[in-house]
Amino acid sequence: VNGKIVIPVVVNVLYKTTAEDISEAQIQTQIDVLNQDFNATNSDFNTIPTLFSGVAADVGITFILEDIIRKKTSKTSWGTRDAMKKTKQGGISPTSPSTTLNIWACTIGGGILGYAQFPGGPLATDGIVVDSKYFGLSSSASYPYNLGRTATHEVGHWMNLRHIWGDAICGSDLVSDTPTHNTANYGVPVYPHYSTCTGTPVEMTMNYMDYTDDRGMYMFTNGQKSRINAIFMTGGARAGF
Ligand code: ARG
Ligand code: ZN
Ligand code: CA
Repeated sequence: VNGKIVIPVVVNVLYKTTAEDISEAQIQTQIDVLNQDFNATNSDFNTIPTLFSGVAADVGITFILEDIIRKKTSKTSWGTRDAMKKTKQGGISPTSPSTTLNIWACTIGGGILGYAQFPGGPLATDGIVVDSKYFGLSSSASYPYNLGRTATHEVGHWMNLRHIWGDAICGSDLVSDTPTHNTANYGVPVYPHYSTCTGTPVEMTMNYMDYTDDRGMYMFTNGQKSRINAIFMTGGARAGF
């Protein structure tokens, strides 16, 4: 990229029920949340504990809604094996995936909120999937995943971020300014929550790449921002953006 990173977004909506046929206004709330969370303008950014305020990042990425593609289907759930991304399997194939973030909104099933493809994977399946029930700002029916943070977390993966606990006991997320977490956190942990890993650091449970409730996650770090920027630079897996 040259200068500011701007991500054109196409939202692919697959629906059987009218509830799954989420409105344009609903979709726009999700784009707004992404713009807030990736530009440190989220209203909870000022609740970051002092311990972490020095590493809290304004990632500086803008998302622009380019198009919404809708398709009525007879499928009640889509699973996590990319069927929703394939016209031949009843889904919707991605639009210009080397220069566009494709987001699929559909019922995934199995209690899965969303999933993402990391940079470097096949273009035909590139993008993120967010269950329609947790897409954008939603009603209390979707609590505690009603603040649009599933997409923030999945876009984090799409931009090469790992889970903060490194998917292992005291694992690494390959980011030096995030503390080592012993495992995933759920709910909204009371601060300070101490890690049992070497040095017993205070865990950054409010990071978007943990597994807390939507209201419990509200920051990326400068180290995560560097990892993100690297994939958009010349030679990076998403240099086309
Ligand atoms: N990939 C995770 C899952 O489906 C998403 C976690 C999102 N967390 C959240 N608070 N919205 O389980
Ligand atoms: Zn994840
Ligand atoms: Ca780390």
